[in-house]
Amino acid sequence: MKWGFLLKLPELKIGHMTPEFPIIQGGMGVGISLSGLASAVANAGGIGIISGTGITVDEMRAHIRKAKESIKDSGYIGVNVLFAMNDFAEKMKAAIEERVDFIISGAGISRDMYTWGKEANIPVISIVSSAKLAKLSERLGASAVVVEGNEAGGHLGTDRPLFDILPEVVAAVQIPVIAAGGIMTGKDLAHALKIGASGVQMGTRFVASTECDAPLSFKKKYVDASQKDMIMVKTTVGLQGRAIKNKFTDIISIPDQKVKIKKCIDCLKNCSYRFCTLDSLKISMNGDCENGLVFAGARVNEIKEILPVKTIINNIMMEYKSCIDF
Ligand SMILES: Cc1cc2nc3c(=O)[nH]c(=O)nc-3n(C[C@H](O)[C@H](O)[C@H](O)COP(=O)(O)O)c2cc1C
Repeated sequence: MKWGFLLKLPELKIGHMTPEFPIIQGGMGVGISLSGLASAVANAGGIGIISGTGITVDEMRAHIRKAKESIKDSGYIGVNVLFAMNDFAEKMKAAIEERVDFIISGAGISRDMYTWGKEANIPVISIVSSAKLAKLSERLGASAVVVEGNEAGGHLGTDRPLFDILPEVVAAVQIPVIAAGGIMTGKDLAHALKIGASGVQMGTRFVASTECDAPLSFKKKYVDASQKDMIMVKTTVGLQGRAIKNKFTDIISIPDQKVKIKKCIDCLKNCSYRFCTLDSLKISMNGDCENGLVFAGARVNEIKEILPVKTIINNIMMEYKSCIDF
């Protein structure tokens, strides 16, 4: 049964995409959101994203194909690529060749990326943290913007909370605005839609899902985390990110402390070379969550169990239903 209609949810429409629920799963780099998580979210009525960060172009192509094979007829799959990475253009072009439903770019924007999307008739969405950048993205050709507040997981573009920035972005642009950062419940969804968002993007809650591509030790770190376990770290990308404290964050929190880089592949356009952010994320993705970086959103402490994606989305819809006026 199609719930979206019964719940009187406003329809999220970006390009050709009209998902059953206005929920996008955030792209999560270095192996966290691959075909497993993305296809589960698409099959549950949301929009799934494969992160192209930290995998090769061939691996990314293989995950796009695998996800497309496992989704039912109306599921949508996009790819997240980071402008800050040297392989940005190559990954974006490969995603276009694989005919993904959309491309979402983080950590910067370029005029070219919207042109490539337009030529291929593939919507390009930008992640922004201010009304100014949202306006610029719209002018350059973005089909939608994701506005990310400081509560988000991954690298952060602002120190302001989502619900402070969201009304400013909604007022500044005509394209759909997707709210991201600290969205965990149906109440949060209702709040974002009331302010004028067309949908939400969620990362942290989907990490602790059965289908997430991260190892069990990474998901357990999420379930066990309390608020006092969180720490802000500055990575070699030059941005702050929120992580769960461990041996690795103890080391990089010491000012000017360097960590030997095993083999630099110069993945970033601008790197501080204090340690290797890519390697540190790969270490935790390989299961060692003490000696690698474990990014997480501000509300990770609210997660009490690992659940199937379908249950996470159903719970959100039930909460949404109970807190809106019919
Ligand atoms: C572990 C983790 C890794 C992430 N990696 C990326 C990434 O590689 N690129 C990106 O644009 N956003 C990344 N994000 C941000 C998510 O796509 C999403 O916007 C954000 O997590 C939303 O906030 P929430 O986690 O509070 O739901 C990451 C988030 C997490 C939790």
